[in-house]
Amino acid sequence: MENFNQYMLDEIKLRKQNFNLRELSVYSNLTDFASNDYLGIAKKHQTGSTGSRLISGNNQQIIDLEKKFSNLTCFDSSLFFNSGFQANIGLIPALTDRNTTIFYDELIHASLRDGVRLSNAKNFSFKHNDLSHLSKKLAKIDGKKLVLVEAVYSMDGDSPDLIELLKITKTHNASVIVDEAHSFGLIGEKGLGLVNKLNLNKEILATIYPLGKAVGSSGCFISGSTLLKDFLINFCRSFIYSTAPSKTVIKEVDFQLAELNSFTMRAEILRLKKYFLDNLRNELRVISGKDSAIVSIFYSDTIVLKKIEALLFEKGLFVKAILHPTVKKGEERLRICIHAFNTIKEINLLLEILNNKK
Ligand SMILES: Cc1ncc(COP(=O)(O)O)c(C=O)c1O
Repeated sequence: MENFNQYMLDEIKLRKQNFNLRELSVYSNLTDFASNDYLGIAKKHQTGSTGSRLISGNNQQIIDLEKKFSNLTCFDSSLFFNSGFQANIGLIPALTDRNTTIFYDELIHASLRDGVRLSNAKNFSFKHNDLSHLSKKLAKIDGKKLVLVEAVYSMDGDSPDLIELLKITKTHNASVIVDEAHSFGLIGEKGLGLVNKLNLNKEILATIYPLGKAVGSSGCFISGSTLLKDFLINFCRSFIYSTAPSKTVIKEVDFQLAELNSFTMRAEILRLKKYFLDNLRNELRVISGKDSAIVSIFYSDTIVLKKIEALLFEKGLFVKAILHPTVKKGEERLRICIHAFNTIKEINLLLEILNNKK
């Protein structure tokens, strides 16, 4: 991680020398000639943030929420973004330059892929969860190296062996970014995700927590060192040039994060998933991860797949067929998400349809 830390330190130092280092401030009790709240509607309803964090959108509520999240997940610092997509497309170009090479799992989310596209870095994919393939690719390249993975992959529901991956990346002096979109709320005793469960907070350059999944809200934290946060405040374009989240969202995230701590709900998902998998017809090609709520069932014939989707809708069950290009050709599937609120009766109906449809 030293080379990325050095890169960030150098860039910040340059800003200081040029007297243009940005810091987040809260301005209160001043007559407003700065915000974009032209009609005063946000002021009247105490809702909108009125501008970007660096101009008028910063406030004590968001600062407190970031601190609370860092304490909860055991990071030094966190920075809030309006969405996971916005976080990823800003983070990756900010951290990388022409001297960087990015190595990404072939199944990473579109937002990470687009972050790579927006960067000036060279990039290579490696086969899904294939650490020996990653290791071979890392060995061939010098310079700053960054590896992008997810803690649970959104389509296959599986996870990388993060401990083994970190051994490899350390050997090759590469840094790692982990996206916890589908693991946060589900993995670990308190549902704090894979990085936290494995106590790897200090080993990961940046961990991404989109909040539209298990937290049931919207927005995203990027967590890591204080240096990372200071750097992003200065160099992450999707953070700098976008209106800060509304106070309504901040309140919602704060409130709903407190509900994560339910071990019972996580256990219920795993119980229902086991019941579903135990009773599913053997011949179906199925993939799922140990701790994830996602089960994918592959159908080689897209027409059959679409027919099953239609039949499920007809019976009142909401299951989506995932088609190319969201997944590779030949990997089209039904993506089933088991929720803590689903019932055995509902799962039995799902099983009845899937087990009978050839
Ligand atoms: C792995 C991953 N990262 C990021 C995102 C984007 O997050 P958001 O929906 O908050 O933009 C998603 C959303 O599906 C995702 O699955």
